[in-house]
Amino acid sequence: MRNHKIAVIGGDGIGPEVVAEGLRVLEVVAGAYGFSFETEDFPWSCGYYLEHGLMIPEDGIDQLRGFDEIYLGAVGLPDSVPEEIGVRGLLLAIRFGFEQYANVRPVQPLTGAPYPLVSPPQANVDFVVVREATEGIYAGVGGRYLKGAPELAGAALVNPNVSGSSEVALQTGVFTEIGCRRIIEYAFGLAERRDGRRLVSSATKANAMNYAMVMWNEIFDEVAREHPTVEAEWMNVDAMAMRFVTSPDHFDVVVAGNLFGDILTDLSAALVGGLGFAPSANLSVEGPSMFEPCHGSAPDITGMGIANPTAALLTLEMMLDDLGESEAARAVGAGVRAAVAEGVVRTPDMGGDATTREMGEAVAAAALKHAGA
Ligand code: NAD
Ligand code: IPM
Ligand code: MN
Repeated sequence: MRNHKIAVIGGDGIGPEVVAEGLRVLEVVAGAYGFSFETEDFPWSCGYYLEHGLMIPEDGIDQLRGFDEIYLGAVGLPDSVPEEIGVRGLLLAIRFGFEQYANVRPVQPLTGAPYPLVSPPQANVDFVVVREATEGIYAGVGGRYLKGAPELAGAALVNPNVSGSSEVALQTGVFTEIGCRRIIEYAFGLAERRDGRRLVSSATKANAMNYAMVMWNEIFDEVAREHPTVEAEWMNVDAMAMRFVTSPDHFDVVVAGNLFGDILTDLSAALVGGLGFAPSANLSVEGPSMFEPCHGSAPDITGMGIANPTAALLTLEMMLDDLGESEAARAVGAGVRAAVAEGVVRTPDMGGDATTREMGEAVAAAALKHAGA
């Protein structure tokens, strides 16, 4: 029997709540489609940090190495653990540790999910944001410099007043040719594989970022030439943000650097009903990939049992596809679509009063029905 080893990191806040529903649905489809899986729970989180002083053990990345996949809920307890420690120490440590360079975030509206725009062009919205996830401004390169430090030179050129008294923080975006090329190539490959419009739209900003985005654009043009059957276009990221709202049906595959992709994907989540509906995969070069919903730990609803698990379930669908369990993946997707469309079980973000668990159970039942079991 096919067997899959999955490392489970529930994390903080609603993370463990939505992951529990993912595991419920996984169990059901594994039974229906004849594969087995083993999970190991890793308690790494901000809660773990408060107890141990570390987000993950020294050999944490090595502990994850032997798994096929990592299924993660969310990280962050912003009131107790500084954001730059909690999230960087776990989430980014894993993304960087396994070179999970391709953060793939599909944007597909579901019938029955809330839609925020006045005239929904929902039927035709179906795109994927491919976000670089190992470099850019997330690289953690820079520093804080007190007055008189030689590193101030660049900042002083911009603002002569800084050389006098104020502190300066430099946050340097790191864009490597390899890093840009591989994510752009991934985007074009995806456009070729998808049943879509074969269009790649690059989010750029060369009008302000005169080094990094100029190189990004050159690489984008080169890769575009190597994929003549895919249409290629670039847009400044600010204009793209507007187009996401005014004509989301324009897009097929969007490729973006780390920060632009992060911001664009909360916006695109809103287009399909909110963060409770936005899945994501972090695909690695080597070692396990990590599957996690786009949303965070949602401190405002933690412990209330009302988080929408749909994002975590669509994330499970992506993980099953990556494991080669495509029939089970289709059953999870069909289960989600059926449960949301039926609208009998709706969490509060959908205007109902159902619990996380009730939503998970509704999807599990619908997935089983799809499987004919
Ligand atoms: P968030 O995504 O946690 O929440 C934003 C809003 O969306 C909140 O009102 C929340 O209630 C709502 N929401 C999110 N997920 C939902 C769901 N499944 N169902 C219903 N409503 C949902 O973003 P935030 O408040 O900016 O961040 C909280 C913490 O999470 C911070 O520490 C942040 O750094 C961290 N964070 C972690 C991840 C991750 O682990 N992948 C992602 C984003 C934010
Ligand atoms: C996401 C999150 C993370 C990111 C944070 C928590 C570092 O917002 O996965 O979208 O910016 O990548
Ligand atoms: Mn984000």
